[in-house]
Order: sequence, then structure tokens, then C-alpha cells
Amino acid sequence: MMTSRNEPCWCGSGLKWKKCHYPIAPQRKVKEMARDYLGKYGIILKTPKQIEGIRRACRLAARILQETCKAAMPGATTDELNILAHRLHLEAGALPAPLNYGTPPFPKSICTSVNEVICHGIPDSSLLKEGDILNLDVTCILDGYFGDCSRMVTLGNVDHDKKLVTEVSYECLMRSISLLKPGIFIYEIGEVIESYALAHNCSVVNQFVGHGIGLHFHEPPQIPHHFNQLRIPLAEGMIFTIEPMINAGRREAVIDPKNHWTARTIDGRPSAQWEHTILITEKGHEILTTLEED
Ligand code: MF3
Ligand code: CO
Ligand code: CO
Repeated sequence: MMTSRNEPCWCGSGLKWKKCHYPIAPQRKVKEMARDYLGKYGIILKTPKQIEGIRRACRLAARILQETCKAAMPGATTDELNILAHRLHLEAGALPAPLNYGTPPFPKSICTSVNEVICHGIPDSSLLKEGDILNLDVTCILDGYFGDCSRMVTLGNVDHDKKLVTEVSYECLMRSISLLKPGIFIYEIGEVIESYALAHNCSVVNQFVGHGIGLHFHEPPQIPHHFNQLRIPLAEGMIFTIEPMINAGRREAVIDPKNHWTARTIDGRPSAQWEHTILITEKGHEILTTLEED
């Protein structure tokens, strides 16, 4: 006789068979997971078709970021970088997501955050100079899909604090990525990042977070870079950014009262950030914002 779906599972877990080792088609499992994550957390687990589109958007963002970084040099203005990046988006049939985003509408196509600017720096006519560090942040929309990445550029010789935050923020990003796989909790990301930053005498900004991305610019979940308690397990098909902002001095950010965007360190000491968009796969993860291998 067949065991009933409601009887205890043969494995001894004490759960009903249907809640435990009852065999269900893999396809149905995927759909159940997606429904679960959307209902419980508002997280959209991506389908293979969506993943393909998001991967293309991410690769484009990585390429535009690389090209724009090459133009960042002493004597250039951040406006010039913005114009270049904007053109590269249009040439690729894409749109820059920052342009007109949010309230008040962000006025430019990329973010350029120099020295003590933590994030959301607005390109302008001021000249870059030897000794500056800057973050360039590119988010593009290609065929309706979003890809988001950023990196630091150092101009010539930079002082101790600037070198430190640039290196520590990169390590924080890569060390947190290396841990990613299904079942890892979101709080483990902030744990790795803040422990590493504190061990190197840096602080972690907690007023801005990484984010789900793909079908929209910013989707659930939030990915804090600081110590937190978010017990959400990562699942296959999740796509989100990690983008730690690391300060040499105090962690607090102050938003510019005039433009309502630019976030600066409260003490004027430097800040740095690197960002990738990452996919959770069956076995681990894939960094989507890398350049296509040849
Ligand atoms: N790219 C940024 C991020 O990593 C967001 C910039 S929003 C903007 O989430 F409006 F300032 F562009
Ligand atoms: Co982002
Ligand atoms: Co970004």
C-alpha cells in the first residue's frame, strides 16, 4: 500500500511526508520557491530568461564603467566623464538608470564621488587632480533589465587614508562575495564586511545598503554592509548588489542640503566604494558585472 502524503516521513524527521521527502517535480519546486520568496520577502527570484537579459545589462555596465574609468585623469572634469558614459549607453542601445531617477530627479547619467564623497556625487565642472580618489558608478538599462557596478580610480600618489579605504573597500566586497551560495544568510555579508573594516581601522557606512536588482533599479532585499540580523537565506535565482562604503574616519554620512543627493563623510575624511551585481546559482554565485570572457 502507498504511504499517505500526510503520514510521518520515512526519514524520521517527524514531519509529514509531503512536507519532507515527498518527491516533487523540480519545476514545481522552483515555482514554489519563487512564490515563497515573493510573498515572504518581496524578493523576485529570476527565471533563466530574465537572468540572460540581466547578464547582458550587467556586462554592458561593466564595459561602460571600464571605458569611463580610463578617461578619469588629472585635468578632466567629472562632467566630461558623464558625457562619455552617457554616449556609450546610447551607442549600445541602453539608457543610464540614474538620469532623472528618484526625488528630486538625479540630474546626471552616472555618479562620480570624489574623496570625502561617500556616494551619489553629481558630475560637475570641477577638475580632477593628482592625489584624488574617485568612485564611478554606472547602472544601465538594456532591454528593460538593470545592471549596476562601481569602482575606484586613484589619481597618481594618494595619501595613506585614501589608499587604505580604496583597498579595504575592495577587499570587503570580494571577501563578502566569496561566501555567497544558497542557504547563506544576508547578515553574514555585513558580518564579513564590518569585521574586516574594523580590523583595518575603518568604519562602515550604514545609511546606504546594497539591493536586489534586475527588473527594477532597487528591489528587495536590502543588503546591509554593517552588522545586522537579517536572517533571509540566499536562494538560487536571487540577484543583488554588494557595494560597501568604507570610511577612514567616522561612519556618518551627511546629505547635501542643496542638491539632496550627494552624501559626504561628516568629518571630511575620505570614503571609498566598489560594487558588483551578483547572481546566486545552484552551487554558489556568479559575478554578473564582469567583462565578457573571450
Ligand atoms: N548606482 C547607485 C547604486 O548603487 C544608485 C545611484 S541612484 C542615483 O545603487 F540616482 F544617484 F543615480
Ligand atoms: Co547599487
Ligand atoms: Co551603483
